[in-house]
Amino acid sequence: MTGTATDLSFAAWLDDRRTRIETAMRRCMDEMAEVVPAGLFSAVEGGVMSGGKRLRPLLLATACEETGGRCGDPLYDLSVSVELIHAYSLIHDDLPCMDDAPLRRGNPTVHVTHGVRTATYAGVVLIPWAATWAYRSACATGCTASTARGIVAYMLEAAGAGGMIGGQALDLLSEGQSLTEEELATLHGLKTGALLAASLEMGAMASGAADSALRAIGDYGRALGLAFQVMDDVLDATGSAEVLGKRPSDAELEKSTYVGLLGVDGARGRAGELIARGLAALDATGLAAPRLRQLARFVIQRKR
Ligand code: IPE
Ligand code: IPE
Ligand code: MG
Ligand code: MG
Ligand code: MG
Repeated sequence: MTGTATDLSFAAWLDDRRTRIETAMRRCMDEMAEVVPAGLFSAVEGGVMSGGKRLRPLLLATACEETGGRCGDPLYDLSVSVELIHAYSLIHDDLPCMDDAPLRRGNPTVHVTHGVRTATYAGVVLIPWAATWAYRSACATGCTASTARGIVAYMLEAAGAGGMIGGQALDLLSEGQSLTEEELATLHGLKTGALLAASLEMGAMASGAADSALRAIGDYGRALGLAFQVMDDVLDATGSAEVLGKRPSDAELEKSTYVGLLGVDGARGRAGELIARGLAALDATGLAAPRLRQLARFVIQRKR
């Protein structure tokens, strides 16, 4: 981020929100430590409490706040649930049978430190935990039981066969192949876009947002989600393992990426167009949402 007054205030806001998210993550992990055997918990904690941008909980909490919702501890608890799904997806994405990655967030991956079997369990244990945590937290925000169930269903659908896991399957099947841009947009939209969009929609659902606002947030989310993965491809092709904190590269894995399809500049351009489309969706319903707009710019300006 550059040093203008607006950027500095965005940086301070980001810092504050991330602190609230980390505090809520700790609350969740402390509760899990009471239930899960110590050896397994250590693997879960290694995968969850290892930094990261915390973008999905940020989006959830901000969407709730900027569509008029309350933003106390229960909302931050709810935001943790999408990060748990994300953490599970990364633990499994890094397994030898998937991307076979030794490094994540600057540290050895969970299967390297705890073994493949424990890492596999550590990922799986997070899925039902995220669902029950989301339900309980959504109720605590003041949602009705029916809305809370809707929020959980949304999250699980986005994580499932018609979302993240469907996209992960396509990603693995597409190694070594040349996809069209349309096919790649579908793949990226599923593996990454679906959970990012769902995070935003869950936040808007928790605030009781009107249907028009919910639709605008969803359209913004799908555009931002795809732009996010396009930039992940760009950073993978242009950043070092030291800066990104992860290895191996997409090129080593012969992945289908936007950089492979459009080149670095073309992919950056496409990410910019997608962000413009996402912001236009907010404009169309008159949603001011200044922080969501800043988060959109953050997604394409980030360095890791
Ligand atoms: C990495 O996600 C995996 C993708 C879906 C591209 P992030 O870039 O959000 O990873 P962390 O959470 O910040 O480490
Ligand atoms: C992973 O995509 C998406 C997930 C759902 C985990 P990538 O394989 O591109 O993520 P990184 O680059 O390893 O973080
Ligand atoms: Mg992968
Ligand atoms: Mg990977
Ligand atoms: Mg990647």
